Amino acid sequence: MSNFIISPKQGVPFVSVQMMAKIIKSTGVEQCIVKLVDALEQDYLRWDEFEKSSRYATHSKDGVIELMPISDGKMFACKYVNGHPINTQRDLQTVAAIGILSDVDTGYPILLTEMCLLTALRTAATSAMLAKQCAPKNPKTLAVIGNGAQCEFQALAMKAVMGITEVRLFDTDPEATKKAVENLSDSGLKVVACSSADEAVEGAEIIVTCTADKRNATVLKDELVKKGVCLIAIGGDCPGKTELDSATMQRADRVIVEFEPQTRVEGEIQHQSEDFPVIEFHRILKGEEKARTSEDELVIFDGVGFASEDYTGLVFLRDLIKNQDDYEILDMIPQQSNPKNLYSVINNT
Ligand SMILES: NC(=O)c1ccc[n+]([C@@H]2O[C@H](COP(=O)([O-])OP(=O)(O)OC[C@H]3O[C@@H](n4cnc5c(N)ncnc54)[C@H](O)[C@@H]3O)[C@@H](O)[C@H]2O)c1
Repeated sequence: MSNFIISPKQGVPFVSVQMMAKIIKSTGVEQCIVKLVDALEQDYLRWDEFEKSSRYATHSKDGVIELMPISDGKMFACKYVNGHPINTQRDLQTVAAIGILSDVDTGYPILLTEMCLLTALRTAATSAMLAKQCAPKNPKTLAVIGNGAQCEFQALAMKAVMGITEVRLFDTDPEATKKAVENLSDSGLKVVACSSADEAVEGAEIIVTCTADKRNATVLKDELVKKGVCLIAIGGDCPGKTELDSATMQRADRVIVEFEPQTRVEGEIQHQSEDFPVIEFHRILKGEEKARTSEDELVIFDGVGFASEDYTGLVFLRDLIKNQDDYEILDMIPQQSNPKNLYSVINNT
């Protein structure tokens, strides 16, 4: 079956922010995440089919700009994404992303899309996929430290996939927590606003840290991370930008990563020795390694975000819009009748 949504001669399908919001709303946030978890698992199971590399990153005083390319030989995906924690002080988002999916056979783009919302969905789905393998049995309480753009998606993912019934929120900015409480008020979750990280992690079997701060921060003191917890740390994703106490990492029974070469540079393990033991997640999914062998183990996901997850998100979106009109056509590739006569495009204007 062709990868193309429309003929390559017709133009490039483009999904704007408004269209993406409409697509997600009509499908349902939780339903999107559930479907994405399934798609992510299918793609992680065929890990070896992907041509993988660490992402390209250009660092500046306040942030980073990254390109995340990947191919499975049939389709090529690439996300442009930044990370500028200072941006919210300028009324801009910390993370702004756009994505492209291409057909490897022709090299033509298949899809261009906003990727802020899609990244939030795929990141939440990735956390839930990890929690399925790494969390203790029947978790009921989630703590989310960092209540910015990613927060609600993480909470809803853990509700939909893990059956979480209570979410405890903490952010150094009380307005961020207030916003998340409001957004989650109709979610069916018991939502508790907390005034400290200590209070937020009380009774939580799963902790998600998704803070943004361009420094090596400690958002959770080591003594707050109890045995048995599944700690999903996704805010530390850049050299010099981490969230956890080194002692917590060293105490963990298992540290799970996406693509080890990238996480060694960007993840929490950048502070550990080169041979600090980690397990790539695909090995757990394939049954080659165990994520957890007892209920009192501390399991940490050192998540930095990997290109294969964006590939999954882009293909998921392509399939969602295939039979709908939720896209525009962009005139991005010349479509003159003689492909060798590019000059005619100017002459015919
Ligand atoms: N691993 C991934 O795949 C992935 C994907 C998307 C975003 N991220 C990262 O996740 C983080 C959150 O992203 P976002 O879009 O929600 O950012 P955001 O700026 O919208 O929200 C981050 C929140 O963290 C809070 N915060 C900062 N320091 C804190 C601390 N010590 N304790 C508690 N709260 C604190 C801020 O006040 C802010 O409300 C960023 O660092 C981003 O780079 C990772």
